[in-house]
Amino acid sequence: MNIGKIRERVLAELSKSADVKTLDMLRVKYLGRKGELTGVLRSLKNKPLAERRRLGSEANKLQKELETIFSEAANRLMTKNQKLTTDPDLTRPGEKISVGHRHPLTRVENEIREIFSSMNFTIVEGPEVETEYYNFDALNIPANHPARDMWDTFWLKSFSNPSRMKSNKSRITNSILEKNSRDNIREKFERYLLRTHTSPVQIRYMETHKPPFQIVVPGRVFRYEATDASHEINFYQLEGLMVGSSVSLANFKFVIEEFFKKFFEDQKIQFRFRPSYFPFVEPGLEVDIKLTTKNRKLSTWLEIMGAGMVHPRVFEAVKYKNVQGFAFGVGIDRLAMIKYGIPDIRLFYNGDLRFIRQF
Ligand code: FA5
Repeated sequence: MNIGKIRERVLAELSKSADVKTLDMLRVKYLGRKGELTGVLRSLKNKPLAERRRLGSEANKLQKELETIFSEAANRLMTKNQKLTTDPDLTRPGEKISVGHRHPLTRVENEIREIFSSMNFTIVEGPEVETEYYNFDALNIPANHPARDMWDTFWLKSFSNPSRMKSNKSRITNSILEKNSRDNIREKFERYLLRTHTSPVQIRYMETHKPPFQIVVPGRVFRYEATDASHEINFYQLEGLMVGSSVSLANFKFVIEEFFKKFFEDQKIQFRFRPSYFPFVEPGLEVDIKLTTKNRKLSTWLEIMGAGMVHPRVFEAVKYKNVQGFAFGVGIDRLAMIKYGIPDIRLFYNGDLRFIRQF
């Protein structure tokens, strides 16, 4: 009795079985109760000891091997057959997988990043949860200064608890006496908030870099104020900062006009630079733009950004000497609204897919 021959026969027949039913018949033929291999194993008891040992070991080995081969072949055929029965029309065109797309604000932000990168500006980011120091004090807006009212603030609860503040204050007084260190006061007296503008990143960047440089900072900001068609409590800004030994307002005018020309492509734009007040710049100004577009609604002056020459006190806070620079802050949502003729800023955030899918 040749076990090797049985093996060859099984494998040859197996390669011809194209469905689960034929495969099962084949399995029964060899491994079933009355199967050929089972018969060989049964007949062993009548064989002489030496042959029984040799044949027994070979037959057992083959039995195990065939069980694995049959079960793998059955799995393979089953998935193939299932596919064939559930999707019989193999000529049917493939189904299009629906993929999401970028939110209009993300698209606009990416466009802005690209334009400023092409003008050699470095893109920088900063934290959304800020300290009072970076959001206000270092920007020349000390506590109790009326200018703080310009930015209605979301203070973070755990840090604005008056009793906690009080105990912090006494600890701070002690530490002043002990160490007389300004940094130490800052660290212990810190109150946390959601940043009201991207300007704190100016300070963070200047603390860790040396001029000359030119950066832009896109990011999300938060204001505790009533919403309307052009105001949200959560919106996006782009901060710009250029510092060097002789950076001037003329440089600002050039950069910003170039940016708007690229951003609004071929539309005709007019600019208006108006004096304004922000504690961290001197002089301060606001920029209005007017677009001549097919959309007549937009042919009016629109306030788009705050800007100015960096205030000497801001440079003092970051220990810069003998430099000057300009800074600006523009609302990304407002830019997107103008570019796409969107009448209400709240449309960006209400999750209505009919709006989002238009972009
Ligand atoms: C600022 O936030 C200053 N940090 C800008 C600045 C930076 C001035 C550097 C000087 C130097 P302001 O609060 O005006 O300024 O906001 C800047 C821009 O953000 C506005 O012109 C407007 O485009 C946008 N903006 C302000 N408030 C809202 C709001 N609630 N919803 C949507 N956009 C807003």
